[in-house]
Amino acid sequence: MRALVFDGPGRIVHRDDIPAAEVEHPDDAVVAVRLAGLCGSDLHPYAGREPARRGVVPGHEAVGEVVAIGAAVERCAVGDRVLVPFTTSCGACAACRRGLSARCARGQLLGWGDPDDLEAPALHGAQAERLRVPLADGTLVRVPEEIGDVAALLLTDNLPTGWAAVERLGPVEGEPLAVVGLGAVGLCAVAAARALGADPVIGIDPVAGRRVQAERLGALTAEPDGAEGMVAEVLGGPARLPAAVDAAGTAGGQRLAVALLRPGGALSVIAVPTDGGFAFSPVEAYDRNLAVHLGRAPVRSLLDRLVPLVRDGRLAVPADVVITHPDVPLSEGPEAYRRFAAREPGLTKVAFDPAR
Ligand SMILES: NC(=O)c1ccc[n+]([C@@H]2O[C@H](COP(=O)([O-])OP(=O)(O)OC[C@H]3O[C@@H](n4cnc5c(N)ncnc54)[C@H](O)[C@@H]3O)[C@@H](O)[C@H]2O)c1
Ligand SMILES: [Zn+2]
Ligand SMILES: [Zn+2]
Repeated sequence: MRALVFDGPGRIVHRDDIPAAEVEHPDDAVVAVRLAGLCGSDLHPYAGREPARRGVVPGHEAVGEVVAIGAAVERCAVGDRVLVPFTTSCGACAACRRGLSARCARGQLLGWGDPDDLEAPALHGAQAERLRVPLADGTLVRVPEEIGDVAALLLTDNLPTGWAAVERLGPVEGEPLAVVGLGAVGLCAVAAARALGADPVIGIDPVAGRRVQAERLGALTAEPDGAEGMVAEVLGGPARLPAAVDAAGTAGGQRLAVALLRPGGALSVIAVPTDGGFAFSPVEAYDRNLAVHLGRAPVRSLLDRLVPLVRDGRLAVPADVVITHPDVPLSEGPEAYRRFAAREPGLTKVAFDPAR
């Protein structure tokens, strides 16, 4: 089959000789990929910030059609249109039952292999014509016909992730909230914060076009340098915010999010930490009584609530606001990674269409 392959930092190659994904275990399903997302998380190995095994197909966001199932699969059938959350999960272990599917005892991250333990299994990812999904019954979610492929792709990662970032801050209704970093995750956090009643939502990013996208989702926006002044202006004084989301993943972005908080405020770090430490000290957090939340979003657990909200229009994210490039051929993958990593103006998120 055709697929992209991670060949070390800065190197994504398009190949047409990758063995086609097949059912390997009785609880597997194979999905023919209709759309596969390119996520900010794919940039960490690409930029050399995070280790990953060479030779693995990257990508952890997929919408597609089930084309084969193992003998033990009961909850999906060949022909179903499904979305694939970015980690697999069994639905039955203690973590899954507590709503923490991202930490399923048997779960795996799609599109990643440990470079330091070559004996450990790697799971090929979604930027391919076909994808093997272990634990299919616990992992896959059928897409209601009201939700198109592009909107469904946002439900595989970015929208539940943005939602998780806000929800774990506690009730935000009627409260101001800042989102630092307006990539796809930050934009979805803006949409989630608005849906959960935060007011105003202040989106911060150095990239002008991404600020315009956040404004379309109902945010006030600022450049990083102007953010503290803007918060003072909006709140009628130097009062700082009760809550902020770090969706940037840079030291500067995290420092800004902390600077905007008032004593007793809460920081939600939804960006994947790739530095060795926080951009603030424990002393600073202590002295200002800050609460800090972080961790991988439990997408599969959240989908039980979020799919109905999106289906019924109660959580509306115009998919084109986030996915600016929804039909890129896999053959253009190396170029798409390069342009995305460079934050090229007008390109916020790419979706690959392997049929093209
Ligand atoms: N926790 C999870 O489960 C989870 C899931 C998906 C993605 N992520 C992570 O979320 C992060 C965001 O993902 P994305 O796809 O939106 O990435 P992205 O790279 O497209 O977006 C990051 C944004 O942050 C902005 N930024 C950088 N420095 C800044 C600063 N100092 N102030 C304000 N903005 C700044 C950039 O301009 C960019 O728009 C990544 O770290 C990704 O790995 C986490
Ligand atoms: Zn992701
Ligand atoms: Zn589990």
